[in-house]
Amino acid sequence: MKIAVAKGDGIGPEIMDAVLKIFDAAQVPLEYEFVEMGKWVFDKGFNNGMTPAAKESIETLGLLFKGPMETPKGKGVKSINVTARKTWNTYANNRAFLSLHGVDTVFSKAGIPIDITVVRENIEDTYGGIEHMLTHDVALSRRFITRPGSLQVIRYAFEAARQKKAKRITCGHKANIMKLTDGLFLECFYEVAKEYPELKADDIIVDDLCMKLVTRPDLFDVLVLTNLQGDIVSDLCAGLVGGLGFAPSANIGDHISIFEAVHGTAPDIAGKNIANPTALLLSGIAMLRHVGLTENAGVIENALLFTLESGKHTGDFGDKSIPSLNTTEFSQAIITNFGKSPAIGARPVIPNKPGTPAPLKLQQNSMMVTSESANETITGVDMFIESDEQANAIAHKCQRHAGVKFKLVNISNRGTQVWPTGSVYTNLVNQYNVRFESIDDSELNQQDVIGLYVSLSGNFKICSLELLNSWDGKKSYSQAQGQ
Ligand code: NAI
Repeated sequence: MKIAVAKGDGIGPEIMDAVLKIFDAAQVPLEYEFVEMGKWVFDKGFNNGMTPAAKESIETLGLLFKGPMETPKGKGVKSINVTARKTWNTYANNRAFLSLHGVDTVFSKAGIPIDITVVRENIEDTYGGIEHMLTHDVALSRRFITRPGSLQVIRYAFEAARQKKAKRITCGHKANIMKLTDGLFLECFYEVAKEYPELKADDIIVDDLCMKLVTRPDLFDVLVLTNLQGDIVSDLCAGLVGGLGFAPSANIGDHISIFEAVHGTAPDIAGKNIANPTALLLSGIAMLRHVGLTENAGVIENALLFTLESGKHTGDFGDKSIPSLNTTEFSQAIITNFGKSPAIGARPVIPNKPGTPAPLKLQQNSMMVTSESANETITGVDMFIESDEQANAIAHKCQRHAGVKFKLVNISNRGTQVWPTGSVYTNLVNQYNVRFESIDDSELNQQDVIGLYVSLSGNFKICSLELLNSWDGKKSYSQAQGQ
C-alpha cells in the first residue's frame, strides 16, 4: 500500500523523520511517495502551496500523511492546510483526546480519566472565508451551514461513536442564538440519532460545554460540532490531556483522508531536534488503523504508552527532575520498547486486515442535495444599505420606494431593530438592513425585487440583498432583535 507523505515546514521534517523511522522499525507495510507541499512550495511560486504533481499523487493514492505547514503571511494566499481539507472534501475532522499515563495534568493528578473524541465539521461555516467589506466600517462574513454537509459529518460522528463503543454522543452548538444555522445542524443531529438507538444522543450549548469540559471532562465521550466551535473546543480538549504535543488529527473524506498533528510548525524550536513527535505519531497510528494495519498500530501505540509511563519525555512535558530526551532519542526509546505494554491503558493488538483500496478517480464533482421544498415563495427582501442617517429619515425615503407591491416592515442595525420601534440607546453603524415584505403576504417574483432595487438605489448605495423566502408558509429567515 502506498501513501503520500509531505514532511511540512518548521519542525515538520524532524518529527516526520522520527515517525517514519518508528514505522520502518515496526515493519509497517507501507510505501511512501514524498510530495511537495508547504511554505517552500509557495516560495517557488505555486499559489496554493503544492505542485501539480503533489495534487495528482494525493488524488491517486487517497491518503496523505502530513507534517505541519506554514502559510506565508500578508501575501493574500489562503492557508494550505484549510485548502487541502476543503479541496478534497475531508468533511470530518476527528481528534481523539486521551489521558496518557506519564503525561501529568491536573486531571490525571486528580484521578479523573479523559477519553474524548471531538468530531468537527471541516468544510463549511465561517471557514468558507467568504468575506466582504460592506462599508468602510462594516465587514461581513457569510457562514454556510448546509443540510447535506451537516448530515455527512454527523453520520461520520455517529459511526465513530459506534466503533469506539461510546455510550454518549453530544452535539455542541449555539442554536439559541443562531437559530437557522446552528438550528439546522442540531436538527440534522437528532435526525441521524434515530438511526443509532443504542447511543445516548444529547446536545449542549457550546459555552456551557466549555465550562463543563474544564470541570468534569470525564462526563463526555464523543462530541460533534460545527467548524469554528469545533476548532476552539478541540484545542481546549488538547489542553486537558497535556497540550498540543499530544493532539492527533484525522481529516476524513469519502475518497481522500489526511492525517496530521493538531499543532503547527513550532518555528521557535525548529531545527533543534527537540520537538515532541507524539502528536504526529498518534496521528500516524490512527492512519494505520484507518487502513486496517491494526497490529502495527497496536504494537507501536503500546510501545509509545510504555515509554511515556516509564517517565521518558521530550522537553515540553514530563518530570523536570528526569533529563529530557531529544526527538531522535525519544523515538529510539519507543523503538526499543516494541513488544512491551503499559501497565495502564494497553491497546489490543489485532491482526492486520489491510483495506482501503486506491480511490476511484471521479470524473465530475458530486452534487449533494437532500430535498427541495415543494412550496417555496418569495415574500419579501432584506436590502442592506449604506447610510449615516437616522432610522426615521431612512424609513421616510424607503416608504416612497415601496410602491404597490411592498411594504416597509422594519429597519435594523447590526441585527437590532431601530424602526418602527427601538431605543435611542442603540448605537448605530453606517449600514442598515431595510426589510420589505409583500403587501398581504402575496407572492413576489425576482423582477419585483429588481424593480425595488432600482428604485431604492436612487437614494441609497445597496451593499447586498437577501430574498425572504417562505417554505410551505413558514418563514425561512431570522427576525431582528426586538422585532
Ligand atoms: P504551534 O503549534 O506551531 O506552536 C505553539 C507552541 O507550541 C510553540 O511554543 C511551540 O514550540 C509548541 N509546540 C508545538 N508543537 C510542538 C511539538 N511537537 N513539540 C514541542 N513543542 C511544540 O502554533 P503557532 O506558533 O501558532 O503556529 C506556527 C505556524 O504553524 C504558523 O505558520 C501556523 O499557520 C502553522 N500552523 C499549521 C498547522 C497545520 O499544519 N495543521 C496547524 C496550526 C498552525
